[in-house]
Amino acid sequence: MPNNKSLVAISDYDKDEILEILDSAAGFEASPNRKTLSGKVVATLFFEPSTRTRLSFETAVIRLGGSVIGFSDAATSSSSKGETLNDTIRMVSSYADAIVMRHPLEGAARYASEISPIPIINAGDGANQHPSQTLLDLYSIKKTQGRLENLNICLVGDLKYGRTVHSLIIAMSHFNPNFKFIAPEELKMPEEYKVFCRKNGIPFTESAELADNFADADILYMTRVQRERFQDLMEYERVKNVYTLQDSMLENSKPNMRILHPLPRVNEINPDVDSNEKAYYFRQAQNGLYIRQAIVSKVLGI
Ligand code: CP
Repeated sequence: MPNNKSLVAISDYDKDEILEILDSAAGFEASPNRKTLSGKVVATLFFEPSTRTRLSFETAVIRLGGSVIGFSDAATSSSSKGETLNDTIRMVSSYADAIVMRHPLEGAARYASEISPIPIINAGDGANQHPSQTLLDLYSIKKTQGRLENLNICLVGDLKYGRTVHSLIIAMSHFNPNFKFIAPEELKMPEEYKVFCRKNGIPFTESAELADNFADADILYMTRVQRERFQDLMEYERVKNVYTLQDSMLENSKPNMRILHPLPRVNEINPDVDSNEKAYYFRQAQNGLYIRQAIVSKVLGI
């Protein structure tokens, strides 16, 4: 029987639920070690590589007194022998209380949620959605800006395949944002997200230039060009180093501006930016622990 507590897309949560998660995460940040998940088992099924998402979900569960099972490499699971996702979900849902899943296929998490009797948390499905990343991005934006409303947000890099920026646009639609999309022609924001912005009265502009183009930004959200999504690797080679943010480029940015990046980074942020007070990406990743404690607690009804 399908469950109704899954988090598959950020649109599964309304504005009040998003704000409730952010409040809950603040509580976990103040006090991350509790025993509220004692006796609960969470499965982490990662059919694609991950460092932050998997380890922060697992840490979140362990710090709340729960237990973790799962795999970090599909090659070590029976999917490598040809087992279907349907059968994998059926089996794991008889062992665990919730499943955190990353999968390369868009829609895989929605499919899993429709067949699973226990909640599914989407930890990224292809180029589609990454809702727990979006919630930690919102938490980071609120912590650094003191609000979510009326912010200028500049999204940079791989806007075509970047699932984090797709989820972020939808989530920010509750908070009257103003977007600037900066991407080369090959990696432009997909039309469906521009249509979403137009329908929801969200102003946006598009440009291929990064330098001198974020002076009014409150948030500069950098993204990695995702080699694993390209069918034509020659195209990847052409665009892989299209933007590299340097410390010297930050001189004219607003004092409150903060740089976010879902990480991992490759060449898009030079390490000389790391010591600038505007670099927030490592603390952003740390915030993921508290947000994921809040998400797991919510889907388990705790
Ligand atoms: N941001 C993010 O999803 O990082 P990982 O791929 O390391 O989980």
